[in-house]
Amino acid sequence: CAECFELGLLSGRHVLINAGPTREAIDPVRYISNHSSGKMGFALAEAAAEAGARVTLVAGPVNLPTPPRVQRIDVTTAVEMLAACEQALPADLFIASAAVADYRPAQCAPGKLKKDTTREDGMTLHLVRNPDILATLATHARRPAYCVGFAAETDDVLGYASDKLTRKNLDLIVANDISQAGIGFNSDDNAVTLIDRSLTPQPLPQASKQKLARQIIARIAQHLNPPA
Ligand code: CTP
Ligand code: CA
Repeated sequence: CAECFELGLLSGRHVLINAGPTREAIDPVRYISNHSSGKMGFALAEAAAEAGARVTLVAGPVNLPTPPRVQRIDVTTAVEMLAACEQALPADLFIASAAVADYRPAQCAPGKLKKDTTREDGMTLHLVRNPDILATLATHARRPAYCVGFAAETDDVLGYASDKLTRKNLDLIVANDISQAGIGFNSDDNAVTLIDRSLTPQPLPQASKQKLARQIIARIAQHLNPPA
């Protein structure tokens, strides 16, 4: 609940958050990426810092100001983002809000690619899988005690999100239905459902990303500071 958010909830904790898209080069002038704005991750970093945590924010290419008292590390690719997250360990809490590209070009061409005049019909780009940053940290020797994922889904939203919670060894997943108009990706508002290991969905109704971030941080802090 928004009322549960208090200053000092996360004091003494190190919170690691990744945010934004990754960008995977095809050649010196082209890349593969996505429309993630990074707003939800930056709002979470701001809320965690307000709750008294030391916050490390590993950011892909986004156009957002760094929240006060947040240590920001800028990266471009998924491989760089993984390395920066591993370097930031140990952490008490990891929140993976980044929209990591699942694949990258097998190689970045050294020079700008020219159209192949022998092939008028099209071209094929060979892609290879990127590492899974969240699954890597959630099974790491120095695993953060509490690992949180995001799942932007359509169709069976809660089913897919629950699968990811289990498959990636998470403590909490934040699911959002991106088929709903006007919220989620690139928007200022969002509506999400939190699913923890009990697999009981807890919906948080549509609100600004700032308000939702405080609610999510308050909820996580309850797990980190179990009632005495
Ligand atoms: N994630 C990650 N590294 C990747 C892909 C995803 O850390 N290479 C994280 C995201 O930051 C998010 C969670 O995993 O917190 C779920 O991302 P999503 O794209 O929904 O899951 P995938 O496992 O990539 O499955 P798919 O895209 O096929 O639905
Ligand atoms: Ca994906």
